[in-house]
Amino acid sequence: MTLYSRVRPLAFKLPAETAHDLGKRTLRAAQSTRPTRAALSYAYGYDHPALEVDLFGETFPNPVGVAAGFDKNAEMTHALAALGFGFVEIGTVTPYPQEGNDRPRLFRLREDRGMINRMGFNGQGMERVKERLEEDGTPGVPLGVNVGKMNSSTADEAIEDYRRVFDRLSPFADYVVVNVSCPNTPEEFDESSPEHLERIFETLAAENDADVPILVKIGPDSPEESILELVDIVRELGVDGIVATNTSTTREGLESPEREEWGGLSGKPIADRSTAVIRAIAEHTDGELPIVGVGGVDSAESAYEKIRAGASLVQLYTGFIYGGPSTAKRINRGLAALLQRDGFSSVEDAVGADLELE
Ligand SMILES: Cc1cc2nc3c(=O)[nH]c(=O)nc-3n(C[C@H](O)[C@H](O)[C@H](O)COP(=O)(O)O)c2cc1C
Repeated sequence: MTLYSRVRPLAFKLPAETAHDLGKRTLRAAQSTRPTRAALSYAYGYDHPALEVDLFGETFPNPVGVAAGFDKNAEMTHALAALGFGFVEIGTVTPYPQEGNDRPRLFRLREDRGMINRMGFNGQGMERVKERLEEDGTPGVPLGVNVGKMNSSTADEAIEDYRRVFDRLSPFADYVVVNVSCPNTPEEFDESSPEHLERIFETLAAENDADVPILVKIGPDSPEESILELVDIVRELGVDGIVATNTSTTREGLESPEREEWGGLSGKPIADRSTAVIRAIAEHTDGELPIVGVGGVDSAESAYEKIRAGASLVQLYTGFIYGGPSTAKRINRGLAALLQRDGFSSVEDAVGADLELE
């Protein structure tokens, strides 16, 4: 029995966001001294040469990262790296601090091993995040920065929002994600219209002297045809990769009473849909556009499925809540065994192994 399997029933008695805040404080404290960081790393780290991935000009020690939303304000990047994650994506970061929606806004769907959230881009804003990144230094694994607009912004203001956050935080980023797929923020205009995407990309390209890779995060709910159209558009605009997928507004096949809450569904219930989106994009782009796969990853098998469907890296949020601090180690150890079983010498060899490419 692990410590987390004893702590979890207690944590799960608390409202989900209170438990998250408590976990955040614990991780922030744990990363504050070198010995505690080293102890975490000793207990939860897992290294294996087959797990290394070279992408975006960086070496990822393993392909299992923390998805956006878990560390919105860059408060625990070092602790997450010490827990064995191969990269951390902070954010979504907005230009100014923002409260988000009223609480409660985060719900566990225990019977479904999922969650519903309608946080609504709560965060401390880019200046505070920048200070923290300066104070804390690099976590020793690649860092992604997920950028967003203020909830109240018009289409024109949104462009300026992205520009400002990119300008402030891209110097710290190994890649930047433009998040145009949050289902919980007010929809003042169509964030993923070709015109809007074009303006975002032109604006960021003009700011991007350091050539930081720019990715777009997409949702799982549009029909495949529209998703692939969007991929074609951003590819033409020079996107460096796709993060697939964000949370879903669908509610099929759920058993937990909390399924009635509005917001974005995550975790196991969206795993297959997210993998199908990854596969469709990878096939459509002949495996040439890097994909970060996210949605319902909670085990080595579910991570491996996404990799074989075309994801070069995977991320998780909900699986970490259910699985606890040993999640990354468990997945990475299992992945190394699956690669060996199937005769792959590295993760990179397994990327897209299930695809039918012409
Ligand atoms: C509480 C919560 C907050 C999230 N906040 C963000 C966010 O700020 N930006 C973002 O791009 N995705 C956000 N996400 C979506 C996750 O990054 C991820 O795409 C989604 O949860 C699917 O992965 P999972 O099934 O592993 O949780 C959030 C998810 C959750 C559960």
